Order: sequence, then C-alpha cells, then structure tokens
Amino acid sequence: MELFDAYNLFNITPVKASGCYVWDSEGKKYLDLYGGHAVISIGHTHPHYVSLISEQLKKIGFYSNSIVNPLQQELADKLGNLSGYPDYKLFLCNSGAEANENAVKLASFVTGRKRVISYQKGFHGRTSATVALTDNPKIVAPFNETENAVILPMDEIGLTEKELKTGTIAAVIIEGIQGIGGINIPDQHFLEELSELTKKYGALLILDEIQSGYGRSGKFFAHQYTSVIPDIITMAKGMGNGFPVGGIMIQPGIKPWKGMLGTTFGGNHLACAAAIAVLDVLKDEDLVNNASRTGSYIIRKVKEIAPGIQVRGRGLMIGLEFTFPVKEMREQLLFHNQIFTGFSGQNIIRLLPPLCLSENEAGIFLNAFGKML
Ligand SMILES: Cc1ncc(COP(=O)(O)O)c(C=O)c1O
Repeated sequence: MELFDAYNLFNITPVKASGCYVWDSEGKKYLDLYGGHAVISIGHTHPHYVSLISEQLKKIGFYSNSIVNPLQQELADKLGNLSGYPDYKLFLCNSGAEANENAVKLASFVTGRKRVISYQKGFHGRTSATVALTDNPKIVAPFNETENAVILPMDEIGLTEKELKTGTIAAVIIEGIQGIGGINIPDQHFLEELSELTKKYGALLILDEIQSGYGRSGKFFAHQYTSVIPDIITMAKGMGNGFPVGGIMIQPGIKPWKGMLGTTFGGNHLACAAAIAVLDVLKDEDLVNNASRTGSYIIRKVKEIAPGIQVRGRGLMIGLEFTFPVKEMREQLLFHNQIFTGFSGQNIIRLLPPLCLSENEAGIFLNAFGKML
C-alpha cells in the first residue's frame, strides 16, 4: 500500500534526536529551530521524559475512561499550579483540533447558542468545527461550511461587539498569539475589551493556546501578558513533547454532566506520564523563563543584524517577515547550515525551537543568518 501523499516533504529522515538536535539516517546533525511544529517543548528525548514513559509502559499503558486513573489527577494538580489556574477543571483529549472541538461544543452546550466568532489569519484545526473557524478556504470541504462560524478582523472590537449584541454567539475563539497566520499578537486592549464584552453578552471566551501555550511565549500562556481570564483554555503541542496529548482547562463555574464530553484515548496512562514529565521538566529547569530570555536575545540580535525586516513574537515563538519569499533562505538554512526552521505564507520564517534552547545554540542560527543577508 502507498501512503496518501498529502504532505510536502524534505528528503531528510530523522532517526535520532536529543535536546535541540536531530540526526538523520546519514549521521548529519541538525539544529532544530522548528520543534516539529512547536511540539518539542522540553527538548527531544529528555531523560526524565523517557524514563517516566518507559516505566509507565512496563506497568500499564492504557485503559479506558471508565476506571480511576490517578495520573490524570496528578497531571491536573501539576498543571493547575504551574499555569496559575489551580481552580479550573481539566478535560483531556488527544490533539489540538480535538481540544478546540470540545471547547466549542462545551460553549454551545452551556449557552444553548450555535454561532462562534473567530479571527482572520487564525488557525484552529482541521476537524469540522475547527476548520470552519479557520481562515483558510483551501482546507474547508463543502461539508465543513457553516454559517455558524463568523470570521472577523482581529483587533477591531466594534465588529465583534456588533455580532455579540445579536445574542446568538456561544463563544469567541482566539489564539494567544496567531501561529500559522504569521506570529501576530492580538492587541492587549482588544483582548481585554473582548473579555469584558463576552461576559456582558453571555458568550464564552476560548483562548486557543495550542501553539502559544505551555511556556512558548515566555509566560505559561501567552494571554497571561494581559489581565484576561478566559472561560476555556485549549492546549496540545508542547503538552506532550511529541506524545499526542491535548486538553482543555475550564473555569469552575461551568458544570459537567455525565456523558457531556468523551474520548477513548484521551488521558490514558502513557499520555499522562508524558504530560507529567513535561510539567516536571518545565518547572525544574525553569524553561518558561529560559524561553523568555533566549527569545528576547534572538529578537534583539536579529534586529541588529537585519534592521530592514519585521520581527514579531514573544519568547520562543518568533516570526521574521521579509519583503521577498523565504523558500530559498529556508532551504539554504536546512541543507547548507543544517538548521530546521518553519514558515508562514511566502515571506515569513517561523522559529519554534524547544524551550531549552541556549544562547549559544541561538548563536549558531544568528551566525548563519547574518552571513546569508
Ligand atoms: C493555534 C492552533 N490551534 C489548533 C491547532 C490544531 O492542532 P492539531 O494539529 O494537533 O489538531 C494548531 C496546529 O497547528 C494550532 O497551531
């Protein structure tokens, strides 16, 4: 059987990884400033992560959500404390799209309303509800089209208020920092007004922190640069450092009923072991602060080296916008300098490295980048 050929591939076969580095099948070593699409948070194959998952696998890897799994509570306690939301409730699932799908469903259940607002250049996933809320018609199949998704310009509060006033909006969903859209940070006042207005008109505020969360922005969640307290926060990517784990954090006023949400695999023993290991390492190695420090260093240095380009971002979620397509530059970085980077659209390079990236490792990129200009 052949693989369904839906991805653009680089002809590189990673076989080994450690920290911020990946090795291919020919033994070539690459600096990973992409983190497998913002997924690697604590670094590849961290010993504590490997040990917790391996030890768990020897005991029990999986059972369904019909039994008591104390690892789920351990994860919820550690996550509540580290994120600053100890009184929120945790629902575990398997991916970013599934987290957003559940968040939207929950908001619709709670409010009894059907319509959801999202923003232009936003990305929330590829499942039915999440792709309808994603501003990219190319990935929306006819079946996914729905008038219940209202996609508005970000940072223009008047347009959002006009929709909220109709009393038909169940939720507003917004990324902490837009990732795929090109590293766009929502205006702080816009976000704070949005939080007020959702309360005023009885809608829920969902913060999609799937890419910007788990320390990537230099705070645990990117919205924590503002005074906003969302009703629901969605997470995935860095949560499992590569193990498929997603989750939603739900404000304590929202009450569940039996059977309201569900999943077969979500919150299984192995997934919890992976997610617990990630939180342990984030805390013990102070990686959220490291992301803040190393990210500020990269942004400062890039501005010195290349004053002509636009640099956006926070922590280790950085976009470099050029006035020309970056395809060639990314290929040169990858094939000549052995540095993985990401992209957005034609003209933006995205840096999403593991949160343990050191200044020295950042310097390898800065050096290569400087020579290329
Ligand atoms: C902000 C955001 N939300 C949702 C998703 C969807 O996550 P997943 O691919 O795990 O379904 C992504 C993935 O890139 C994302 O960046």
